[in-house]
Amino acid sequence: MLYGKCIAKEPRSIIVIDTPGCSWRKCSFCAVHQQTVDEDTALLQVKTAFDLIPRDEKILQIVTSASYSDYPVSVQDLILRSVQNLRPDTVILEQRWGLRDLTLDVSAKFNEIGVSVEWIVGLEALAREDRRYLGKEDYDADIPVLRRYFKRVNLLFGYDGKGAKSLCTLTHEMNVLLPLFNVVSINIYESALDSILKRDNGLVEDFYNSPQFLEWKINPKVHIFDTDFRAESDFGGIDTLARA
Ligand SMILES: C[S@@+](CC[C@H](N)C(=O)[O-])C[C@H]1O[C@@H](n2cnc3c(N)ncnc32)[C@H](O)[C@@H]1O
Ligand code: SF4
Repeated sequence: MLYGKCIAKEPRSIIVIDTPGCSWRKCSFCAVHQQTVDEDTALLQVKTAFDLIPRDEKILQIVTSASYSDYPVSVQDLILRSVQNLRPDTVILEQRWGLRDLTLDVSAKFNEIGVSVEWIVGLEALAREDRRYLGKEDYDADIPVLRRYFKRVNLLFGYDGKGAKSLCTLTHEMNVLLPLFNVVSINIYESALDSILKRDNGLVEDFYNSPQFLEWKINPKVHIFDTDFRAESDFGGIDTLARA
């Protein structure tokens, strides 16, 4: 469990609640789903996290170690009750593409208690072959269909190999996606345990030295996450951080 009060770009509380596991698990880059916990631990993480959130919080992001619908029903119920007590305006949740239909039911439950939901999808790359290289679910990312379910997308950048994404491709992806989605997150790849993909530090340097980075860094719709916090963007603006 992690708690952070984000003060940059989109002020909000961010909590990380681990899931018992991802129902896909085939993404070769994914370090996130390796953080799995049993149901009781996830329930305890929810209680601990909600105790840390300020009572007047308007926006709450719940980062899962998989997809929201991978949480057991008991965990989803506890989150819903906890959100009802907190009464934020918006919660931000994430879901993989294959579980998109389940977002509708979850959103309806939050809407019933007066809270709106913005969903993030881990798109990672715009081109289907680039997603295949990463082991993502194989689907045609038809943008109008994506937008029906998701208001935010994650892109991955900075990995090596024959299917590595160039800065030019990332720039193209950003130009296409930014006008259409509320937030586009660029996640700078951190070599995942057991993955054959490695972080390409040269490529990451090119990213930080590019004029595009200077633009994206100050664009409120672009969130950049890097484990070394060099981006100083969004997660770089974390004020308090609690770990349990
Ligand atoms: C839990 S995952 C995504 C949500 C959902 N499971 C999906 O696939 O749509 C959250 C994000 O973490 C990022 N991520 C996963 N592993 C990473 C790694 N090793 N380095 C950097 N970002 C990573 C990806 O961009 C991913 O979209
Ligand atoms: S990126 Fe999402 S779908 Fe892929 S393995 Fe990680 S948690 Fe599962």
